[in-house]
Parts: sequence; C-alpha cells; structure tokens
Amino acid sequence: MAVTGILLVLFLVVHMLGNLKIFTGETSFDHYAHWLRDIGAPLLPHTWYLWIQRTVLTVAVVAHIVAATVLARRARAARPVKYAHRKKIQGSYAARTMRWGGVIILLFVIYHILDLTTGHLNPQGDASNPYGNVVADFAPERWYVTLFYTLAIVTVGFHLRHGAFSAFRSLGQQTPKGERRARAAALVFAVALCAGYLVVPFAVLTGLVS
Ligand code: HEM
Repeated sequence: MAVTGILLVLFLVVHMLGNLKIFTGETSFDHYAHWLRDIGAPLLPHTWYLWIQRTVLTVAVVAHIVAATVLARRARAARPVKYAHRKKIQGSYAARTMRWGGVIILLFVIYHILDLTTGHLNPQGDASNPYGNVVADFAPERWYVTLFYTLAIVTVGFHLRHGAFSAFRSLGQQTPKGERRARAAALVFAVALCAGYLVVPFAVLTGLVS
C-alpha cells in the first residue's frame, strides 16, 4: 500500500509542478509537453519513457487497489463477529471516504486522459498544442468542467491527506504529539497539492491564462 502510494504521490507532485509551467506561456508549456515524449533521448526512442511511466503507474494503481482489498479483508477477518453497536463516526472524514474516494479518482483519471491526453473529450483536442487544449477545456462557458475538476481534485486531497497521515504514522509518528505532527503535515501537504492543481483551471476561468 505504502510503496505504490508513494509512487503515485511522486507522480502527483511532479505532474502538479509541470502543470504550473502553463504560467510561463504557450511556447514554454508546449515545449515542456513535447519534451515529456523525448525524456531519455537519445538512449530511449521517442515516447518510450512515457510508456514506461504509464506502465509503472498502471501497475502501481492496480497493486494499490489489490493491497487495499487485502488489507480490508484482513481487518474484517480479524473481527468476524460484527460490533453490536458500530459507532457511526469512525476516524476523520478523509479516513472514512478512502474506498469511494479511490473509485472517484480512478473514474476522473479515465475521463482526464480522454480529455487532455487523447483529446477525445476536449473541445480542441490538438495533440501538438496542449496549452490550447487546457485553455479550451477550462474556458468560462465550460465552468462545469472546472467544477468537475475541482470536486475531483478535492477528492484527491482528502485521499492524500489520510494516505500521508497513515504513512507518517507508519514512519514512527505514533506518540500523541507525533500523531498531531503527522496530521498537521498531511493537511499542509494535501492543501498545497490541491492549490497547485486548482490554480490552473481557475487561472483560465478568470482569464489570467488565455
Ligand atoms: C487541474 C488539474 C490538472 C491539469 C491542468 C492537468 C493537465 C494535464 C495535461 C495537459 C495532460 C496531458 C499531458 C500531455 O499529454 O502532454 C495530463 C495528463 C495526465 N494527467 Fe493531468 N492534469 C490535472 C490533474 C490531474 C490529476 C489530479 C491527476 C491524477 C489524479 C492527473 C493525472 C494525469 C495522468 C495519469 C495523465 C496521463 C499522462 C500520460 O500521458 O501518460 N492529472 N494532465
């Protein structure tokens, strides 16, 4: 769970930083997107790095889901007799929404790839102009796309907050003070990541990026 989670978080951080290049202008952003296809050249042929990354991420997502299922089964098996009175509120909101949050994120990623990678669901869908695709996507009249992305990214934030908190605790922050520290660090990390993602659609929506 932790190893695959860390890999996915690494991707999320790098992807968020890459998206921020939109503020450096169209030429620079498109150049960055084309460079993504040439990472490792001349050792690796065109798009090979990208396909290696895609394979690793897909394996990580599948393994993350399998690990979550195994852990949930193990937890259930450890308590075969159901609690007579199950408390309605167990743990934080983020902790209680991990499973459905994960499903929503997976559905979002499928939509997102069809939108900004393959271009099928994008109003422009021009592979040679990713900057234009982003601007067309989050245009003010398509405010509902920004709304949908916002909901998905906030879901990612909740998922990450609980995941990071669990990871920090596993790394030794288990005293009450350590838990408080882990909780605060997870919250700061999740909020920073969400803000880094959300600033792009909102910059387009408000005309800051056009
Ligand atoms: C507002 C936020 C986001 C923006 C503006 C954005 C932008 C983009 C763009 C432009 C691409 C296409 C890159 C290219 O083909 O050159 C892309 C691909 C992708 N994005 Fe995002 N993204 C956002 C959020 C996310 C989130 C939250 C996730 C994951 C939960 C994510 C996962 C991916 C994946 C998996 C790809 C496919 C990469 C590949 O081609 O292998 N993105 N994104």
